[in-house]
Amino acid sequence: MFNKVKPYMGEYMNYTKKAILCVCIAIIFSVLPYFFLYQIIVPLISGQEMTPVKVAVLIVLSAICMVGNALLYVKGLSYSHYSAYNTLKNIRISLQKKLEVQPLGTIRELGNGRIKKVFTDDIETIELLLAHAIPEGIANLLIPIIVIISMFLVDWKLALLCIAALPIGMFAMGMMFKAGMEKMEPYYAAGAKMNNTIIEYINGMEVVKVFNRDGESYARLENDIISYRDFTLAWYKVCWPWMALYSSIIPCVALFALPIGGWLVLQGFSTLADFILVLCMSFAVGTPILKAMSFAGKIPQLNYKIDELEKLIENPPLKQSEKDFKGSGYDICFENVCFSYKETEVLHSINLTLKEGEMTALVGESGSGKSTLAKLLVHFYDLDDGRITLGGQDISDMKIEALNEQISYVSQEQFLFNTSLYENILIGCPTATREEVLDAARRAQCDEFLARFPQGIDTMAGDGGKMLSGGERQRISLARALLKNAPVIVLDEATAFIDPENEEKMNVAISEVIAGKTVLVIAHRLHTIKNADKICVLNQGNIAAEGTHDELLLGSEEYRRLWKAAEESAVWEVRA
Ligand SMILES: Nc1ncnc2c1ncn2[C@@H]1O[C@H](COP(=O)(O)OP(=O)(O)O)[C@@H](O)[C@H]1O
Ligand SMILES: [Mg+2]
Repeated sequence: MFNKVKPYMGEYMNYTKKAILCVCIAIIFSVLPYFFLYQIIVPLISGQEMTPVKVAVLIVLSAICMVGNALLYVKGLSYSHYSAYNTLKNIRISLQKKLEVQPLGTIRELGNGRIKKVFTDDIETIELLLAHAIPEGIANLLIPIIVIISMFLVDWKLALLCIAALPIGMFAMGMMFKAGMEKMEPYYAAGAKMNNTIIEYINGMEVVKVFNRDGESYARLENDIISYRDFTLAWYKVCWPWMALYSSIIPCVALFALPIGGWLVLQGFSTLADFILVLCMSFAVGTPILKAMSFAGKIPQLNYKIDELEKLIENPPLKQSEKDFKGSGYDICFENVCFSYKETEVLHSINLTLKEGEMTALVGESGSGKSTLAKLLVHFYDLDDGRITLGGQDISDMKIEALNEQISYVSQEQFLFNTSLYENILIGCPTATREEVLDAARRAQCDEFLARFPQGIDTMAGDGGKMLSGGERQRISLARALLKNAPVIVLDEATAFIDPENEEKMNVAISEVIAGKTVLVIAHRLHTIKNADKICVLNQGNIAAEGTHDELLLGSEEYRRLWKAAEESAVWEVRA
């Protein structure tokens, strides 16, 4: 169990060791006063003489031990917390590093709720293990052990009586762990599901309200909440009888000791002083054992949580090498590319060449795999089969950063960080001057709406860019890509939410920047790509046809159909 955390502890292991040492010495200090007390009780009961000085010394020694105990305990805990929080930091950083190189698909599949839970809640419970369970758990186990040994040194018969009930309690505890472990997995799975549903429920609130789906959506959330309750109760149901048994038996150390011990004293087998001392000491047995066990109770959970963390990390990272981009030119080739999200294959053996200096357009019905193809090019996912090359170099045979430097990608879903719009554009090229950022914004037709904000381009974007409309977000994203000015440009329906008038201007801006580059455009309005050097028609994950607009109108049934539909909707737009 501790082996799993060890690699993350690194140098901080020493602090944990110091913590254990401090706490152990503190424990010894906490037991010693009983002995000093004994030194006073024995003469008192047997009527021996005791000098006041000796009594005073014993009392002072006891006081010193108590202070020492408190100080060392605090010191130990401060060491253990220092070690714990630094270990948590290491775990989080290592997790973040691993997440960084995961294919996007893996991250999406995990879901926001689960990632958040792993990053915050699950890691936080490891704090309990490192900062408390290790030092305090060990200490609380040590107390009873030392006390029981001491009791045996005082009077073995009485000591035996005191621990007689322990095996029953221990058995109950073992049974609880065994039963609890089995229910742990479904219990946590239900918790993670509830988390994801809550996040989805909140994110989708807008849609839910508009379509009056409160009931349905709430019912799903309610179901998950109820099933979480059921799993929790199922867990408790198997655990609580054992819990009740051990928590009532373990603290009752005097159960046999009081009556039978009293009899032993009366019969002269034990002395009254020893009896009193052993009884006093027995109070230091039950509670610490319970405490130690409550920490031990967390250990199966912790095991599970570290497993969960590592499972997240274990997923194969995105394929990449340490190489820089060394391709010659910027031609892009898809060679027999197959790809599936989970089981269903969505792209089947795609062969496609995008020539440097040319604009290639991808058209096809919604769901035909256009966005997926673009995402594969920017290496969001690894391929099932085949390869994609840039300038002859396999994109999985270079650093992902090297690939990113070559490509400006404007995706269908725009995300803005909650910083200023200026900084959102600056992401495209962090070394750009303010002039260059303003110029990119102007070319992406942002000026018109920026003028409406009192703070202009320095306005904050709001969480995920909520302050802006879809079209406005799109224009900021485009400005970001224009500023980046990479040799390869991928635009996935980059102007879909923009009104026709602005779109016209924007297309002019786009056609300026794409000159001489390798360009892949996915268009929602076919007339915008009419002049593309090559148009590629995707149909259910297959390339149905390739060619220029004129060639395709003649040769491709599928393209004619798409074009006809586009013209009809254009007419419809004009009428509207
Ligand atoms: N993240 C995803 N997980 C599972 N299936 C997906 C995912 N994204 C897209 N798909 C599926 O892949 C197919 C192609 O989607 P996409 O590339 O977005 O199509 P297009 O951009 O042409 O509309 C669709 O059937 C879609 O349902
Ligand atoms: Mg798409």
